[in-house]
Amino acid sequence: MLNLIDLKEVIENAPVEEPERQFYFMDRVKELVAIKKQEGYAAHFMVEVMGCQMSAKDGEKLKGILERCGYTETLDDWDCDVLLFTTCTVRENANEKLYGRVGRLKHQYEKRRGMIIGITGCMMQEHDEVEGICKHYPYVKLMFGTHNIYKLAELLYKALITGKRTIEVLDDSKLIVENLPSERKYRFKGSVNISYGCNNFCTYCIVPYVRGREKSREATDILKECEQLVADGCLEITLLGQNVNSYGNDIPGSTSFPELLKAVAEIPGLKRLRFMTSNPKDLSDELIEVIRTHPNIARHIHLPMQSGSTAVLKRMNRHYTKESYLELVEKIRKTLPDVSLTTDIIVGFPGETEDDFQDTLDVVRLARFDSAYTFIYSKRHGTPAADFEQVPEDIVKERFDRLLSVVQETSRENEGSDIGKIMEVLVEEQDQNQTGHLTGRLSNNTLVHFEGPDSLIGTMQNVRLTESKGFYYFGELAG
Ligand code: 5AD
Ligand code: SF4
Repeated sequence: MLNLIDLKEVIENAPVEEPERQFYFMDRVKELVAIKKQEGYAAHFMVEVMGCQMSAKDGEKLKGILERCGYTETLDDWDCDVLLFTTCTVRENANEKLYGRVGRLKHQYEKRRGMIIGITGCMMQEHDEVEGICKHYPYVKLMFGTHNIYKLAELLYKALITGKRTIEVLDDSKLIVENLPSERKYRFKGSVNISYGCNNFCTYCIVPYVRGREKSREATDILKECEQLVADGCLEITLLGQNVNSYGNDIPGSTSFPELLKAVAEIPGLKRLRFMTSNPKDLSDELIEVIRTHPNIARHIHLPMQSGSTAVLKRMNRHYTKESYLELVEKIRKTLPDVSLTTDIIVGFPGETEDDFQDTLDVVRLARFDSAYTFIYSKRHGTPAADFEQVPEDIVKERFDRLLSVVQETSRENEGSDIGKIMEVLVEEQDQNQTGHLTGRLSNNTLVHFEGPDSLIGTMQNVRLTESKGFYYFGELAG
């Protein structure tokens, strides 16, 4: 039956414009799936997200397209017909994780011939990785990059009809394709891309190479998407960009990020607004003011510092100093006393000396982060820092351990400071560890566990915080 379908003709009849073209291919895949179902095809899919919130958002788009194509989600990879990975390549261990997972899928593939294992995301923007997968994993049938995620239906259609490996990786794209289906993980919260790519070229970072130059979406499109999410029952929205503060810099006369944030915060019915990620080099006073004057903007700022040493920051191309970072932290804490500050820190950046590292510890102590994500520097092929002189592994490891204990020490100082307070919680799910209990989040992103019925999931509740457990609280419903 499938042989009767003339792929060439189907492609020739496809609309040229997007997203119409992709809706056309979603319909074609759906027809094909209906035919295959008569022959016993289950049409089950899985999307496995590896990496950051951008990757998770890509995963939601892939799920939305697959559902529209007639597939249904499964959690069992032995019972799966299309399994897609959205990959990360920011550190070497992310790549290793993907290889391990794909390697183990050989058995599933052999049991279920016709299964389409596909890989997309940042790793696919690296030619060596695509080549490596072609060579070592013949059963990976679909590969596409970050610039053409929206083309899943078209590429899947080709892979299904031809049975051959289908690869399409673009080096960059000026095109932003809007209005494709997307399937949110939680019905009560969603995320919205405000920009793609990055222009900062921090010397350790692969992101500008794999996600391309910064492209901001039109503010009106972003607002419309946020309004639709709220109309669809979302209480919380997260605005996503590699550096939200430079939003609009690529569009002459564009709305700035603080203006955009204000407009979204003022959508009636939106209870909570978050954003990720804010580069310290261009976080403006105006932004702090917008947060201060809008109680529904979350009291949480993720402010990656990377290093506390001005010399290292310079070689990282970060455009701020130890002193200016600390000044910014002070300003934020003064204006937003209830804010929680989190950060990213890299240890062992090439050329980092013990004195440089002491500066990092110093900033950790002074800034009193609520939590910090700590990373060992990972050499990324093609980035400038890969050619700098590297710090020996044993020294890096020892510094990493010291950093961890200082981070734990300082974050402990903030722990429990809200005990006794009644605070608003967005209830997210059942508590994994205790039946009859629920888990939710405070505005400052801290988790709270408390007793309550499942019917509260997806609602805002007042909870009295009764006990601190370090990274989370226990509480009780306060009516
Ligand atoms: N090595 C280690 N950590 C890195 N990050 C980005 N690139 C690297 C790298 N080459 C970290 C930064 C960034 C976070 C998302 O990942 O801290 O903020
Ligand atoms: Fe990477 Fe720097 Fe861009 Fe963040 S701002 S994505 S660390 S280049």
